[in-house]
Amino acid sequence: MNLVRSVPIGRGGSGDQLLLRPLELSDAADLAGAYLRNRGHLAPWEPTRDDGFFTEHGQEAVIRAKIDQDRTGGGAASAAVAAVVDMATQELDLHRIQAATLLHNAPSQAVLGRCGFDRIGVAPSYLQIAGEWQDHVLFQRILF
Ligand SMILES: CC(C)(COP(=O)(O)OP(=O)(O)OC[C@H]1O[C@@H](n2cnc3c(N)ncnc32)[C@H](O)[C@@H]1OP(=O)(O)O)[C@@H](O)C(=O)NCCC(=O)NCCS
Repeated sequence: MNLVRSVPIGRGGSGDQLLLRPLELSDAADLAGAYLRNRGHLAPWEPTRDDGFFTEHGQEAVIRAKIDQDRTGGGAASAAVAAVVDMATQELDLHRIQAATLLHNAPSQAVLGRCGFDRIGVAPSYLQIAGEWQDHVLFQRILF
């Protein structure tokens, strides 16, 4: 099973590439640094984090990925979601992928729409984000 992809970012032919790969424990320090750098940027979209989360040790327990704030709008998330759809189809043989966004997260919804996800509907009080239980829009892409 190959869960590594290198895909071009953006539509301008800049030559930038996005490497998609499973995270490893040795990524924890870099991930903690990226979360710390983006703490204010991500706060409206994330569960409330205590200070311990923004350390290497905190990342050993929770592994996720986000777009660095100075790279947003460059097509990285669209390239990543498209590559995940490809891996889910080619390597994992999944039937369906689900995603959820806050109601006002227009950039995330644009990414999902671009990648062929359909809107299912609103799930009330779906996740605790920024300290509040918040409604989310659910999306799915049926793969086969
Ligand atoms: C959401 C996020 C992951 C998108 O990453 P990205 O690399 O900037 O996404 P892309 O550049 O591939 O695409 C962004 C899309 O949003 C659109 N967009 C940006 N701001 C927008 C706005 N205010 N209203 C509507 N659409 C908007 C862009 O036009 C683009 O769509 P297009 O490709 O059809 O033109 C990134 O902004 C991020 O990390 N946000 C903070 C955390 C977050 O929201 N995470 C997701 C939780 S579900």
